[in-house]
Amino acid sequence: MRGKFIVIEGLDGSGKGTQAALLIKYLASKGRKVFQTAEPTESVTGGLIRDVLSGARQRTSSELAALFMADRVAHNVNPVNGIEKTLEAGIDVICDRYYYSSIAYQAVGEDKQWVVDMNINCPSIRKPDVCIFFDVDPESCRKRLESGRVYLEIFERDIEQVQAIRARYHEAFDLLKDSDNIVVVDAARAPQEVAADVEKIVDKLFE
Ligand code: TYD
Repeated sequence: MRGKFIVIEGLDGSGKGTQAALLIKYLASKGRKVFQTAEPTESVTGGLIRDVLSGARQRTSSELAALFMADRVAHNVNPVNGIEKTLEAGIDVICDRYYYSSIAYQAVGEDKQWVVDMNINCPSIRKPDVCIFFDVDPESCRKRLESGRVYLEIFERDIEQVQAIRARYHEAFDLLKDSDNIVVVDAARAPQEVAADVEKIVDKLFE
């Protein structure tokens, strides 16, 4: 049987990392084999992307969107440890960020339509079995980040920008509600409460 493809999304500081770790433990306790991955990936393209995210290198938003796209296609089709290959081997894939992030972060202004279209219509980009969005208001995300991070990435510095990103996430979910299985979870609660919701969502995939 194919593995399940689970995407987790949320603003920086929404608790994705904590929830991914809890979910992996949960799936392992059920005897599932799990592969944890993330975008941007560790590929050369991922490195080019990180140079932009850290502010070390300037690129336009459309260049960045194209880099994320290239990274995502490779992430799907990589014959060694790509998403396709892993699912075929019966291993569940938990991916921290996916095309929903590109829509929330790069589908802006005149780039809006093509960024959405290329991510949604690309035959090499598999739709996940579920996308779980950890929804927290930007102020709380910022507080969580400030207590734990040495530096903030370019998208985390301006609260109004983060609010716009959250709004675009919700727009994307509305747009994709018939084609994608998306569940929005209130992530402003205690981690164990959030995790209990996540377990229920994931259990449904195995019914
Ligand atoms: P990173 O620190 O690698 O992961 P996270 O903060 O999720 O733990 O940051 C990834 C950054 O990349 C984050 O600010 C969102 C951004 N991003 C995009 O702008 N577009 C995309 O398509 C993806 C996958 C991420």
